[in-house]
Amino acid sequence: MIRKYTYGKPVQTDATVIPVSTASGMPAPFTVTETECGEIFVYEMDKADAVFGLGEQLRGMNKRGWIYDSWNYDDPSITEGRSCLYGAHNFILIFGKKMFGAFFDCGGKVTFDIGYGDPDLLTVSAKDTDVYIIEGDSALDIVKQFRTLIGQSYIPPKWAFGYAQSKWGYKCEADIREVFEGYKKNGLPLDMIYLDIDYMQDYKDFTVNKERFPDLAALSAEFKSEGVRLVPIIDAAVKVEEGYSVYDEGVEKGYFCTDAEGKPFVVGVWPGDSVLPDVLNPEARLWFGSQYKALLDRGIEGFWNDMNEPATFYSKGTLQHALAEVAKAVGKNLQVEEYNEVTGNFHRLANNPADHDSFYHNAADGRHVHTDVHNLYGYNMTRGAAEYFAEYAPDKRFLLFSRSSYIGLHRYAGIWTGDNCSWWSHLRHNIAMMPGLDMCGFLYAGADLGGHGDRTTEELMLRWLAFGIFEPLLRNHATQGTRDQEFYVFKNKRAFRDLLGIRYAILPYLYSEFVRCAKTGDMLSRPLCFDYPDDRRARTVEDQLLIGGSIMIAPVVEQNADGRYVYLPARMKMIRMKAGNRYTERIVEKGEYYIEVPLDEVVFFLREGKVMPLAKPAENVASLDEEHLTWLKFITQPAQFTLCRDDGITKSSLEKIETVTVEP
Ligand code: NOJ
Repeated sequence: MIRKYTYGKPVQTDATVIPVSTASGMPAPFTVTETECGEIFVYEMDKADAVFGLGEQLRGMNKRGWIYDSWNYDDPSITEGRSCLYGAHNFILIFGKKMFGAFFDCGGKVTFDIGYGDPDLLTVSAKDTDVYIIEGDSALDIVKQFRTLIGQSYIPPKWAFGYAQSKWGYKCEADIREVFEGYKKNGLPLDMIYLDIDYMQDYKDFTVNKERFPDLAALSAEFKSEGVRLVPIIDAAVKVEEGYSVYDEGVEKGYFCTDAEGKPFVVGVWPGDSVLPDVLNPEARLWFGSQYKALLDRGIEGFWNDMNEPATFYSKGTLQHALAEVAKAVGKNLQVEEYNEVTGNFHRLANNPADHDSFYHNAADGRHVHTDVHNLYGYNMTRGAAEYFAEYAPDKRFLLFSRSSYIGLHRYAGIWTGDNCSWWSHLRHNIAMMPGLDMCGFLYAGADLGGHGDRTTEELMLRWLAFGIFEPLLRNHATQGTRDQEFYVFKNKRAFRDLLGIRYAILPYLYSEFVRCAKTGDMLSRPLCFDYPDDRRARTVEDQLLIGGSIMIAPVVEQNADGRYVYLPARMKMIRMKAGNRYTERIVEKGEYYIEVPLDEVVFFLREGKVMPLAKPAENVASLDEEHLTWLKFITQPAQFTLCRDDGITKSSLEKIETVTVEP
């Protein structure tokens, strides 16, 4: 059952797809206090309650014990003390004697104090918000109702489930060829190579640097014939440059965000002075989306949208002010406070809240200052692209994912989780984040494998890969200047080959379960307690996941570990995979065990009564043989599995779902 309550004047978010009429009274079990700054919603938690959700957020799976802001924010220092990341996913699920879900649908900032100020209180602060309270029989039932409310999740093409190599630092065609050859020569599977901002001319969206990439269309066609796609980045900000058609046209049509006087608001991003497309204006949104044609016409079939919180390094006004303060200080003997004041002007330049109060959108429901709709920006940028793709090739599925997001974007695209680091703690964080994302509809998601910043190691990379093979988006990406982390640079190439082989072998399972979950609102990756709600121990497990209906995973997340303790909430069959086509199996009873996991193996657990299809390892999705599947089984009676063997490319073929009966 879903109840909706409205406070103030919420902006139109289009997060939900099913109309729910507004109820009167309190959004029980919350009590509400109205203040000048908005509403405060309070719920007294039971000692044993866990709180799940919030999608892309810091800390563990169970969110209790910290304070979180929904405020899309670009900051590559992702440490425990932070309170927000790149997405605003305002759905929580209270898991305990009383179970319910709550969604705060609000374009501005929302704060979730989940036992931080007072260990027993859940306090949500929001202004101008719709609140949806969802009650149901179980956690899974509540999530399913919520996912039905927000609409079906995006399903990418099947090749987007292959392995991807990316790095900010591949500058030209020769660099891309080196990566392609490196994988090929070493027998390492590959489906995608990503292009970061250096492929553009002067960081101008929808342009290609002719010297670095003389013929992108030919390169893209050549690689595609070998089963590898090129996936370029698109940034939110558009370079200010007369003669650049995207800038000229946007100015002429009034499609950029404006200041209080109606002039385009100038910020600094990669190209220097830039303007922000007003993607909250439906016309401008589609116009920006239609610019992708320049690359679609070159045979490109996938994109990643970046810097769309929107991230700004400065605004013209604040930069001028900071520079003027420096000029005033030249020649002075600055005392420490004065020094801090002058330099502080620079530290405050990026993503400055004062800037957010200084520019405006002409949204479908009226003119809004950016602060009130901030969290909707990346969502609408990405939505515009998806809407245009549907015009460009109505039945075709494109790969599209975004850094910044709001609930609603999940219908159009996936997300990656931003600038993590090559730290073991970030591998654990990656695991913990997956169920929250899933609950909010973001099924096509993944973290930068091996870490984006800092220095990875062969061991971390292998352990991360052993988890990543169960994530829909499997992309190795790192920032410029970091140690190379393409798999072929490491010593134990065979181990990488074996683990990647497992990814392709389990792909029919992962993909079929993904499609089923996207269509039905079921969760692909879940905390153990969602399926074993009466098991108190299961509620505390933060580094194991159920993936799809059939399996449980328990990745190794410690340096120098030769295995790990695994908790089994029920009897399961332990599958020890040595490569995609070699494995052993053993039945293990409910309980806790130390399981050895060598670096080149993956251990996972097949649930009783379940089956799982296996293909042979392949060099890319195009060459995957899905006709000759074998089955992992833990059954005594015939079991059914819903197999999706569509063409992987068209929307219409997604109807091609078979229910296969597997004999014991
Ligand atoms: C920030 C993104 O998060 C990162 O993945 C990318 O490499 C850089 N921008 C450069 O485009």
